[in-house]
Amino acid sequence: MATTSARLTLPAKLEATLIGGHPWVYRDQVPQGFSAPIGTMVEVRCGKFSAWALWDPSSALALRVYSRIAKPDVNWYRQRVSEAWQLRAGLRLQRTNAFRWIYGEGDGLPGIIVDHYAGLAVVVCDTPACDQIVDALVPLLVEVGGVSGVVRRRRGAAKEDRLERLWGAEPPATLVVEENGLRLRADLVAGQKTGLFLDHRENRATVERVSKDARVLNLFAYSGAFSLYALRGGAREVVSVDVAPGAAEDAAHNVRLNGFDESRHHFEVADVFDYLERARLAGERFDVIVCDPPSFARNNAHLDKALKAYVRVNAAGMKLAAPGALYAGASCTGRVTPHAFKQCLAESARRSQRRMQVVHESGQPVDHPELLGHPEGRYLKFVMGRLLPRA
Ligand SMILES: C[S@@+](CC[C@H](N)C(=O)[O-])C[C@H]1O[C@@H](n2cnc3c(N)ncnc32)[C@H](O)[C@@H]1O
Repeated sequence: MATTSARLTLPAKLEATLIGGHPWVYRDQVPQGFSAPIGTMVEVRCGKFSAWALWDPSSALALRVYSRIAKPDVNWYRQRVSEAWQLRAGLRLQRTNAFRWIYGEGDGLPGIIVDHYAGLAVVVCDTPACDQIVDALVPLLVEVGGVSGVVRRRRGAAKEDRLERLWGAEPPATLVVEENGLRLRADLVAGQKTGLFLDHRENRATVERVSKDARVLNLFAYSGAFSLYALRGGAREVVSVDVAPGAAEDAAHNVRLNGFDESRHHFEVADVFDYLERARLAGERFDVIVCDPPSFARNNAHLDKALKAYVRVNAAGMKLAAPGALYAGASCTGRVTPHAFKQCLAESARRSQRRMQVVHESGQPVDHPELLGHPEGRYLKFVMGRLLPRA
């Protein structure tokens, strides 16, 4: 646990934002000359605001606010871990054992993610400043969640060093989890994110509800999670498209794991843009289309490019819609607001000579809570609409 401490007075212009709940202070907002060891809990003051914040000289995000009451101790951390565990209680009753247990800022533990995969806790940190906090959290994860193991996944590390055992048995590289009663393989080492995209659980259930007898196209399918829900919903055929190595094999494995007829599912290992062009030329049509691309912008400088990419990919996707088809567009780019994303979809519909009636709109599920005052915590958009010919 962070043991050293220091004091710091922040510029008065930050007071309203900090009181409003925003937990970040950037390096260029910190008075010059301040220094402390990485991971120090700094007692910060700013007018009427005071708090304990984690010091991170290694990043542009210099301070992350933890407690507004006292320097965090083991009881404070236990409280955050159990509050987060309780919030997910409903999920655990729904045949789901894969969920985000701690969503950083949203759960009051900035910079720290913990995903729960079938009794194994997978910890990911945004910064080494969190290292001592992770040491404090490990026994609490075991105590509160009764997990059999805790591992840390390091972003950007070579495959052989990516997973570190922190407690319990040596973790398996892959395991099978349950989501709304469907079984999925999660690859904790080679998989994207921590193995699965846990944030679309409810959106996938929405797709299941509209898939009866439909021909379904799942663009940017990864290991086929949306496809499994479509198959369970009674789709007559599902086509999944993704370019990631291993995604096709994982998806085929998942189809078998759930006992679905393999002839109803087809995986195209392809660049989505190439696939869409080929499918258009071949006159392919689908009744339900899901388009869930990767994030298109990491910062504001790339925002314009991201908006154009959303218009382009969704326009190409919409061209494959059968009359009256349902089209679900998703965006995980935090900098693109729900309003801006719908504007992109409107432009895509216009370019594909169709009208879109929005019938369902959502974002993140309960295990990705947004802390009010920290809008950066809300990133996911999911908009489903019916596509009709222009009138
Ligand atoms: C947000 S993830 C999709 C998650 C998936 N829908 C799920 O529910 O598990 C984006 C996916 O897009 C894939 N991808 C990125 N660029 C691609 C491209 N140009 N063509 C095909 N797939 C691509 C990545 O491999 C990744 O699996």
